[in-house]
Amino acid sequence: MQTFGADAEKAEMNRSFLFVPADSERKMKKAGDAGADALILDLEDSVTPEVRAEARLMASAYLRGKQNVWVRINPLESEDCSADLEAVIPSAPTGIVLPKARSADDAGALSRRIDELEQRHGIEQGQTRIIVLCTERPEALFTLGGYVGVTERLLALSWGAEDLSAAIGASATRDEQGSWLPTFEMARSLCLLAAAAAEVTAIDTVFTDFRDTEGLLRYAEGARRHGFSGMLAIHPAQVAVINTAFEPSTAEIEHAERIVDLFDANPGAGTIGLDGKMIDRPHLAQAKRLLERAKQIRNNK
Ligand code: COA
Ligand code: MG
Repeated sequence: MQTFGADAEKAEMNRSFLFVPADSERKMKKAGDAGADALILDLEDSVTPEVRAEARLMASAYLRGKQNVWVRINPLESEDCSADLEAVIPSAPTGIVLPKARSADDAGALSRRIDELEQRHGIEQGQTRIIVLCTERPEALFTLGGYVGVTERLLALSWGAEDLSAAIGASATRDEQGSWLPTFEMARSLCLLAAAAAEVTAIDTVFTDFRDTEGLLRYAEGARRHGFSGMLAIHPAQVAVINTAFEPSTAEIEHAERIVDLFDANPGAGTIGLDGKMIDRPHLAQAKRLLERAKQIRNNK
């Protein structure tokens, strides 16, 4: 049996999520060798309406017996959404990626639809998780505090710039240097904050220039420093780059261990100096988090 990374419960371990158009037999065959922690079979934007019914059957067949394979369905209010769910839930995907959410209410409503389908197909209640693309619609940006406690199924929030740019009529999402334009950088930050508030992980969006692996590495390293725990990929060549970028480096691990050791050696201290810099409790929490993540990734290899 093929597995992609470990149990999705350990969400922090998912560094790379590779999108695979579910209408492509060829790409689905290839996807398993890409080394991605998770795959997302796409039934939405990369699949045309004419072949969607066929793609659903292909996705459903592909899913059986696989681990950490997700399905991006069509938006909740679309007719396609119900057909997507009915086709794939019986094959027990790890979870559903919900695009174009209007607010957290869409995630709640999706969760209730899944409840019913899990029951009907004898799948353990709550097993199917949800990742929400939470910034693809302008109105959604004003609701991002709503993900707190919305459903136990929620594993992560991610975001998208392309649909948002189409909705607002922006002709570009990045400047000449490749940095996000302010509206998109804001959406990105809000996704990160919404995920932190809801105590789920944040996954950064796709890097569309799939031949530019150097640019991707710089971007992905920046994304991890920002607080994202993983990133969406669109091409197999992006996976190894993303995996490397989201793994704590040896130097970072050593630094975190020094911080933990320092506080262990000084149990009463609230703040300590290290290499001429002030270190306090938030640094300790951060160091422990990094070490936990490094351990999980190591155990997962
Ligand atoms: N998953 C699996 N295999 C993929 C893949 C993917 N996402 N993207 C490309 N491949 C395969 C190709 O089929 C090709 O295999 P082949 O040599 O056996 O034909 C190989 O990797 C090299 O591909 P390449 O020629 O470099 O790219 P392409 O021009 O065929 O495809 C894209 C470019 C962008 C169309 C393609 O990468 C893709 O479909 N990405 C996913 C798009 C998506 O899901 N979008 C929705 C989310 S934004
Ligand atoms: Mg889209």
